[in-house]
Amino acid sequence: MKKYNVAILGATGAVGKEMLEILGERNFPINELKLLASKKSAGGEVEFKGKKYIIEEATENSFENIDVMLCAAENDISITLSPAAVMAGAVVIDNSSAYRMDENVPLVVPEVNPEDVKKHKGIIANPNCSTIIALTALNELNSYAKINRMIVSTYQAVSGAGINGIKELDKQVKDINEGKEAVANAFQYQIAYNLIPQIGDFDEIGYSQEEMKMQNEGRKILHNPNLKVNCTCIRVPVYRSHSESITIETEKEITVEKARELLNNAEGVKLIDDLQNKKYPMPIESSDQDLIYVGRIRKDISSDNSLVLWCCGDQIRKGAATNAVQIAEVLVKENLI
Ligand SMILES: NC(=O)c1ccc[n+]([C@@H]2O[C@H](COP(=O)([O-])OP(=O)(O)OC[C@H]3O[C@@H](n4cnc5c(N)ncnc54)[C@H](OP(=O)(O)O)[C@@H]3O)[C@@H](O)[C@H]2O)c1
Repeated sequence: MKKYNVAILGATGAVGKEMLEILGERNFPINELKLLASKKSAGGEVEFKGKKYIIEEATENSFENIDVMLCAAENDISITLSPAAVMAGAVVIDNSSAYRMDENVPLVVPEVNPEDVKKHKGIIANPNCSTIIALTALNELNSYAKINRMIVSTYQAVSGAGINGIKELDKQVKDINEGKEAVANAFQYQIAYNLIPQIGDFDEIGYSQEEMKMQNEGRKILHNPNLKVNCTCIRVPVYRSHSESITIETEKEITVEKARELLNNAEGVKLIDDLQNKKYPMPIESSDQDLIYVGRIRKDISSDNSLVLWCCGDQIRKGAATNAVQIAEVLVKENLI
């Protein structure tokens, strides 16, 4: 079997570390592995499959002979280094939002639009984590009855802001419990024992950047330029797994029974919808695995052809690292690297 030279840019971060785990778990056929991060992490040691790897400082010259570069760094770093990786002959799978809306860059959720991978010109973008979670949950419903409109509220874990988000919740809980003041750096305000209704900057009509991603990226992934999305994104003091309350309006009715049947057979989805036994998705249960848990399916009593559901998914795994590795697997399967 052919093996590939793989680089992870941002290998010391929340997403990068998880990518390494998932490459191992899924037995991705790796020949050489290069782990890249900032200068401050260079020289650090990481073990993978019983072998020690040294973290290297990422530069434009880091990508010689690399077949696939998994980018798990912020936009500015991706913008500087992804083109260098492409120039060196690698295919880049980028977790930042830098290239997602570029018309030359496919935006892919493998359960939804794997065929778009074939159109790549060097870079493939991983969608926003909340968008991946929502669309994995909704894909089979959308295939049965096209979704025209979505109303979404997200409840996003602190690890969505990377390692600094996790550290900040830890420290604030500890400080508050010791009677000290909670200091906010990673988030705008204290996140411990609080919710923050802002993720990203606001636009002129009052929507945050994170909220607009659900509509803009959703349209591109579903190939539905008329999709209307009204999204509210909230940061919550949960370590891991984003949760979403979603109302969809569809072009024809989907009964609750039909929705359950579709979701029971949907790729990447686990249906947990048993109210009598108090069974529904919760972030503590959907963490550390790859399926999107869906439940609380009910008719929208305020509108026709409209359905309400609740879903939870591990945004570091399926919302980022796993989705990227799945894209790399599509590249292998389609002989595109
Ligand atoms: N966290 C999530 O749930 C999530 C979900 C979807 C998408 N994303 C996206 O994935 C990307 C990574 O997020 P994250 O949460 O993993 O962030 P993170 O935990 O803060 O990690 C950032 C990574 O980038 C590296 N880095 C920083 N400056 C660098 C430089 N100058 N050169 C090379 N590497 C550098 C860091 O290395 P050092 O350790 O050396 O600083 C670290 O490995 C972001 O674009 C984010 O928006 C995150």
